[in-house]
Amino acid sequence: MLARKIKDHIYWMGSVDWDSRLFDSLIPLPDGTSYNAYLIKGSEKTVLLDTVNPPMAEEFMAQLEGIPKIDYIVSHHAEQDHSGTILQVLEKYPEAKLISTSKAKGMLIDLLNIPEEYFISVKDGDTLSLGDKTLKFIYTPWVHWPETMVTYLEEDRILFSCDFFGSHIATSDLFVTDEGRVYEAAKRYFAEIMMPFRNVIKKNLEKLASYEIDMIAPGHGQIFPNPAFILDAYRDWTIGAPRNTVVLPYISMHDSTKRMVDHLVATLVDKDVRVEQFNLGVTDIGKLAMSLVDAATIVVGTPTILAGPHPYAAYATFLANALRPNTKFLSVIGSYGWGGKTVETLAGMIPNLKVEVIDPVLCKGVPTESTFKALDDLAFAIAQKHKENGFT
Ligand code: FEO
Repeated sequence: MLARKIKDHIYWMGSVDWDSRLFDSLIPLPDGTSYNAYLIKGSEKTVLLDTVNPPMAEEFMAQLEGIPKIDYIVSHHAEQDHSGTILQVLEKYPEAKLISTSKAKGMLIDLLNIPEEYFISVKDGDTLSLGDKTLKFIYTPWVHWPETMVTYLEEDRILFSCDFFGSHIATSDLFVTDEGRVYEAAKRYFAEIMMPFRNVIKKNLEKLASYEIDMIAPGHGQIFPNPAFILDAYRDWTIGAPRNTVVLPYISMHDSTKRMVDHLVATLVDKDVRVEQFNLGVTDIGKLAMSLVDAATIVVGTPTILAGPHPYAAYATFLANALRPNTKFLSVIGSYGWGGKTVETLAGMIPNLKVEVIDPVLCKGVPTESTFKALDDLAFAIAQKHKENGFT
């Protein structure tokens, strides 16, 4: 793709990645992604904001053909999907200086072996004049690593935010046209990489509240010409107010656990509790992560295998613990053959979750009437707790 004009003297550059289906060898990309860099031509200086993932370097470097001079490269974030082509840009423009936070400087040297003499470290609130345009650098740690910052272009009131407000979407539309689609992709993105740091991100949002922002240009996905939409969504997600929802990741081997899941789900729905159910044998783990952003309760469904939880259930539990959702209640259901320590093992995997554990329901072999009665009691207890806490 060629460079695209956003406004006079401000351009999108980068690459739309239609084909990738996994990010960081972990995160599903059902809709691909994009790696966005931006070029700003001031009356005196030209600046490049970020670069692209190294596999997209050829396309990106072709976009720089015809750009005679770059005075500054700004690296908002040291992760290689944004920084990985900096060395190639510096080879083309050896006179350019590389602007980053001091923490990012160390990481960029470690990760990419960028020579130290290229760097200018900026402090929070520092400005840089391009002549008729002024960049302001704002520290916004933990979006998504500790070294991250964003850039505010004062005259045009554009925020260049890198991972902050990003979404993994491959599209030829430069600007957001379908807010519903972007909402889902951005929520998934928030859940996967920012939810564990939501208290810091909340402070970052408060810091940005004093800026008049006409447009947000992130490092992945589309540009927001209506920033209020994504700023409001982030405010909700960082608060993480639990909703009247049960997230139910499960796996079943011989259908006993599945029958228990089906019964529990039917009873919860009958009691007006929303359920998001995920068969871990086939699910997109990103959808599970997204559902955790505002779910009040997690119920893990697992058979006992090799004296413990099924590895898929352990994986989902480990993920939930790592993502630190604001979930309030947790329980376990499932079938076992002769014994084991499924509940104890899962309970030991969630030190980060500040949850009240509701009595698990385990059954030996196939579920019986007493199992279904216990599941009804569990559904009643969950519905009651959601009501008592005012979750809607
Ligand atoms: Fe898009 Fe944390 O990199």
